[in-house]
Amino acid sequence: MSRVVEHDPTRAPFYEVVHRRRDVRAEFTGGPVAPEVLRRVLEAAHAAPSVGLTQPWDFVLVTDDDVRRAFHAHVLEERRVFARSLEGERAERFAGIKIEGILESTLSLVVTYDATRGAPAVLGRHAIADAGLYSVCLAIENLWLACTAEGLGLGWVSFYREAFLAGLLGIPEGVLPVAWLCLGPVSHLEAVPDLERHGWRDRLSLEEVLHHERW
Ligand SMILES: Cc1cc2nc3c(=O)[nH]c(=O)nc-3n(C[C@H](O)[C@H](O)[C@H](O)COP(=O)(O)O)c2cc1C
Repeated sequence: MSRVVEHDPTRAPFYEVVHRRRDVRAEFTGGPVAPEVLRRVLEAAHAAPSVGLTQPWDFVLVTDDDVRRAFHAHVLEERRVFARSLEGERAERFAGIKIEGILESTLSLVVTYDATRGAPAVLGRHAIADAGLYSVCLAIENLWLACTAEGLGLGWVSFYREAFLAGLLGIPEGVLPVAWLCLGPVSHLEAVPDLERHGWRDRLSLEEVLHHERW
């Protein structure tokens, strides 16, 4: 069986993209991303729904090699921190899993959350503070799907301390870095998530998470 999820003409394009999307680490080619394509995927992210129409996200494009190398070194250290918490089979499995493609990808994009935007009277956030953060994650998912539709890969890196990343990029006090995303052309997209292929964890079936009427 091919490792690549082939285009399936029997699927509506939207569902085809949803199921082809992958978190990418090892498949980045480092090739160029056309400015108009980058613009389209950013417009898709910026079109996301947001609580109270706050659009609480900002996007920081990072191409500078020194900055990316500094972040990469920090991520390697955080990888070691996590690895030290593992034992036996878990430790062995984790050792073989790549968790980022920071230096191989064409560019990085850091997405942040500004809770003060549109505040204090954010329509829909008075009872659920996290609704602002949910909005940022929806922008990221829009971006992820748009990249997939454009034939680009995207990989989410969360092995970092927020204070370190804020300092590295000059993110203002009170604005939270939510994701470091690696972005760029890829050789292919794997059919199966990396963590599943490496035996870290299997995906659940829909039946296992679907409830009727009550939890
Ligand atoms: C909030 C979030 C943080 C993540 N952080 C990382 C990460 O630091 N390193 C990594 O390799 N993958 C990371 N991932 C990717 C997940 O491991 C991946 O989405 C999951 O294994 C399913 O694979 P798929 O996205 O290819 O379907 C992250 C995903 C999310 C949603």
